[in-house]
Amino acid sequence: MSGKQYTIARIPGDGIGPEVIGETSKILEAAASKHGFSISWADYPFGADHYLKTNEILPASAVDEMAPMDALLLGAVGDPRVKPGILERGILLHLRFHFDQYVNLRPAKSYPRVPLPIQPKKGPALNTLVVRENTEDFYVGIGGKTEKGKAVVDLATTRGLYSMSGTLEGAFSKGVEGAFQLGVASEPGVRRVVAYAAHAAKARGEEKITLASKSNALPQIYGFWEDVAKDEAAKQGVGLSIVNVDAMCYHLVRTPDLYGVVVAPNMFGDIVSDLLAGLAGGLGVAAGADIGDQLSMFEPIHGSAPDIAGTGKANPIAAILTGALMLEHIGERAAAQGVENALTEFLAHAETRDLPVEFGGEATTTAVGEAILRRI
Ligand code: NAD
Ligand code: IPM
Ligand code: MN
Repeated sequence: MSGKQYTIARIPGDGIGPEVIGETSKILEAAASKHGFSISWADYPFGADHYLKTNEILPASAVDEMAPMDALLLGAVGDPRVKPGILERGILLHLRFHFDQYVNLRPAKSYPRVPLPIQPKKGPALNTLVVRENTEDFYVGIGGKTEKGKAVVDLATTRGLYSMSGTLEGAFSKGVEGAFQLGVASEPGVRRVVAYAAHAAKARGEEKITLASKSNALPQIYGFWEDVAKDEAAKQGVGLSIVNVDAMCYHLVRTPDLYGVVVAPNMFGDIVSDLLAGLAGGLGVAAGADIGDQLSMFEPIHGSAPDIAGTGKANPIAAILTGALMLEHIGERAAAQGVENALTEFLAHAETRDLPVEFGGEATTTAVGEAILRRI
């Protein structure tokens, strides 16, 4: 019983975001009252509707207002009515970079009754942790299109660890038009995420981590990653195995539980974490957290799923588990465990038709939320 009051910023966002965040919020409030603390929500409307109505994406004043809060809970952003990148970069990536949330933690954990497309080899369960670098790589947003065969790309960027400056000029011959996108890795950027992965491995009782890489094709950026990661892993006292990301995907579909902790550059981490989510039962069960030393953000790894928005088919479990990660992060470990237990009990005991549609049942988003809420 901490008796504390937490202020949590909340951005439900687009598509199924508000649906899954609605169920999650009720469950987190119930867990709080059971464990003697309270949550006060600071709600923000950012997303497609707000953008289309006001032309505002994410004002700096709102970001400053969130900074001292205890955490940020986000559903998903992205909408077919808005050009890809505007909301995703303008809200999601902006928040990750602004608050220097350098770790994107993505557990791929299986739960009872959740059908797995491929059986794990070592036992019935899957429990892999993806530690994705979250501020660099091809995500820095530096690039450009040519005009009359030539591009001048401004490298000016600010991160928590450094700022970058300079310009790159590139040209195609014969007036050919094209585009450039720059990937960035810095030594402290790689070290801190590898160190985080090493700590996470040790906390799981494991002695090594696996790096998803691709230095055979991209030696500058991923060769650098490998060198720094080897040094940092040795410093942290864990082993490092390096696996080319293409082979990693291949191995994963044959042996889903091959890896313990996977550390990955931003883009490979994005792809491998969706693959592992699928192997662990679906995007509807895959929680995520963007962790840094300032405000941390909690968002399921799935997107706004416009194909099922408004149908009641969205599985809220990923968002609910994301909420549990958030409770743990703010120091309410017993409440976090309570949420995970309620969810596990629901899954273990539900009639098949009362399971989420994603797991072969008929239960709507709200019905799943209510059933878990009753077990808190
Ligand atoms: P997506 O994750 O939204 O959907 C992929 C597939 O998984 C869809 O078939 C969807 O129905 C299904 N799915 C996702 N979440 C589910 C859930 N909770 N329950 C059941 N099924 C679920 O990926 P996408 O289709 O590539 O992207 C849709 C939009 O979301 C795009 O605008 C994209 O940019 C955005 N996006 C946002 C985030 C985020 O805000 N964190 C993450 C990924 C994608
Ligand atoms: C995710 C999403 C985002 C990413 C997109 C929406 C920018 O796919 O959170 O995994 O690539 O990081
Ligand atoms: Mn993704």
